[in-house]
Amino acid sequence: MIGNIEFRESCKGLDWTELEALFVSAKLDHRRGPKQRRAFENSGRVCLAYDEGRLVGVCRAITDGEYHAFIYDVAVHPDWQGRGLGKALMRRLLSRLPVWRIMLVADEEVQGFYRRLGFALYGDVMALRDRSKLEEAEPLSDDVKAGR
Ligand SMILES: CC(C)(COP(=O)(O)OP(=O)(O)OC[C@H]1O[C@@H](n2cnc3c(N)ncnc32)[C@H](O)[C@@H]1OP(=O)(O)O)[C@@H](O)C(=O)NCCC(=O)NCCS
Repeated sequence: MIGNIEFRESCKGLDWTELEALFVSAKLDHRRGPKQRRAFENSGRVCLAYDEGRLVGVCRAITDGEYHAFIYDVAVHPDWQGRGLGKALMRRLLSRLPVWRIMLVADEEVQGFYRRLGFALYGDVMALRDRSKLEEAEPLSDDVKAGR
């Protein structure tokens, strides 16, 4: 299925431009530049998948380690999708979250993927949202703007 995939559980050595390119290929917006790097570095858990040194999948979670966790940024490169990699990444992440409630936000078209992992809709969730905070407070570097 997914062959010789290497899984890593740390951001150490992560090429942030490669991560950004993965999000672009997986069509996940608003994951750019230093803001994205800080978000990953500040996450309690990350799981990265490499195929022969190339970053092909990712997910991350923030957690208190005791009761709660929230999963974000689950992405598999399109050329690696449909081969069990997303499930493998999620299972590794879930195995490191020994908490009673794990939450995530999923568009309708991917809910089936999470249902297979045991997730279900959870009706009484509320959120406070401020889209202005999605953007980088500081300007993006020329490298990031150029996609390097
Ligand atoms: C969603 C995503 C992470 C799934 O990764 P993947 O590697 O293609 O998924 P897998 O091959 O591991 O699939 C695992 C199971 O989920 C099913 N599945 C995968 N994507 C699905 C979808 N969109 N809807 C319903 N079921 C899905 C598979 O058929 C498989 O089922 P099985 O275990 O019964 O065989 C990947 O498609 C992706 O990166 N999409 C773009 C980014 C995105 O939308 N991320 C989610 C943000 S909330």
